[in-house]
Amino acid sequence: MGPFFLFLNGVFILGLLVLTYLHGRATRRLLRRAQGQVADLESQAMAKIAELQASYARILREIDERQQAEARLRESETRFAAFMQNVPGAAVILDAADTILYANETWREIFGAPPGTTPGDPGSAARWEVELNRQVREGGEALQHLETLERHGKTRYWLLTRFPIPPPDSGTPLVGVIGIDITARRVAEEALRESEAKLRRLAAQLLKAQENERKRLAAELHDELGHRLLTLKLRLEALEAELTPQLEAMKNEIQEMLKEIAATIAEVRRLYLDLSPGDLEDLGLTTALTALIDDFRALKKDLTFTVDLDDLDGLFPLPVQTAIYRVVQEALTNIGKHADPRRVSLTATREDGRLIFEIKDDGRGFDQSLTSRTKGTLGLLAMEERVRMLGGEFHLRSRPGQGTTITFTIPREESTDEPIPDRAGR
Ligand SMILES: Nc1ncnc2c1ncn2[C@@H]1O[C@H](COP(=O)(O)OP(=O)(O)OP(=O)(O)O)[C@@H](O)[C@H]1O
Ligand SMILES: [Mg+2]
Repeated sequence: MGPFFLFLNGVFILGLLVLTYLHGRATRRLLRRAQGQVADLESQAMAKIAELQASYARILREIDERQQAEARLRESETRFAAFMQNVPGAAVILDAADTILYANETWREIFGAPPGTTPGDPGSAARWEVELNRQVREGGEALQHLETLERHGKTRYWLLTRFPIPPPDSGTPLVGVIGIDITARRVAEEALRESEAKLRRLAAQLLKAQENERKRLAAELHDELGHRLLTLKLRLEALEAELTPQLEAMKNEIQEMLKEIAATIAEVRRLYLDLSPGDLEDLGLTTALTALIDDFRALKKDLTFTVDLDDLDGLFPLPVQTAIYRVVQEALTNIGKHADPRRVSLTATREDGRLIFEIKDDGRGFDQSLTSRTKGTLGLLAMEERVRMLGGEFHLRSRPGQGTTITFTIPREESTDEPIPDRAGR
């Protein structure tokens, strides 16, 4: 090999070296760029991973919150169901279209309507109930009505209360219905009403019988006792006239006896008038009451008695006038017996087709919780009953040491003793 080839070899090797060097530089540059890109990708990936981690944590948190909310919901539903199952009655919730959303056991058993029942299905709301639901939704207030159910051949009464429930999405309100079986109460009420009516009839009969008995006694007092006393008086007067002046002692004795007889006749007359208000039939209620008050005044001279009576004559038939007379008479008798007052007032006012009486004393008064009902006396009871029988109202106000006021009204119309019908008109 000659030197030329050696030289060429050298050039070639040099060229190779230069090329290798140049290639290495380019490769290093490329490598550096690639490294930079990798670092970029790496940091982007890291950011993405961080983002993913954050949203993963958020999702975990949301799942946790949802689970808690669901647990709370389940808890509240369990509580609600337990509560509704134990409500002493039937309960149901209806949606905006009156489809049953919820019904407790009792409702399902009594009305045979499970959740999902829509109007028209068996056991669903009747048309009039749908109308009530509409009123409840529109009016926003609860409504009550009575429903009669025939079960196993027996009638049962249910009191149903419907009320609006605001919906969660502020759309059409739901309707809640709670029904209570009031059969036992109604049966007891009816029995009570019946027995009250019986007692009232009995009281009316008793008061009538008492009035007749008073009349009979009065007649006997007047015709028998009064007459005999008068005859006795006349005979003694005749005997006295026959006596010679020498029989002075006997004369004095007869005069004493005559005084006794006169006092007895006066007492019989007082009893007679007490038993039979004769003035009433002949002279009318105003005069009869005035006479009654005058008698009372004569007995209790030291008290101030104020009277203000409207003209009461010709307003009522005789039995009503007698009843009014008896009520006033008992009120005055009670004042005389129990009150020891300084002032008494009696007013009778005609107002709006009725008569209002007020009898007031400033005497001892009494504890109203210990009245006739507890004491077994009859006066106040009879007063109240007489007023009731005439369709009027009777009020008594009394406190120990603060006097007593009795107010009663007598309507001009005929009294109606019918029981007040309930909401269902039954
Ligand atoms: N004006 C009054 N002032 C004070 N106490 C009164 C008055 N009126 C009634 N009372 C009390 O109320 C009670 C009941 O009255 P009520 O007229 O029913 O019975 P009474 O007068 O005791 O007996 P009676 O059956 O003979 O009327 C009385 O016993 C008395 O204690
Ligand atoms: Mg009395």
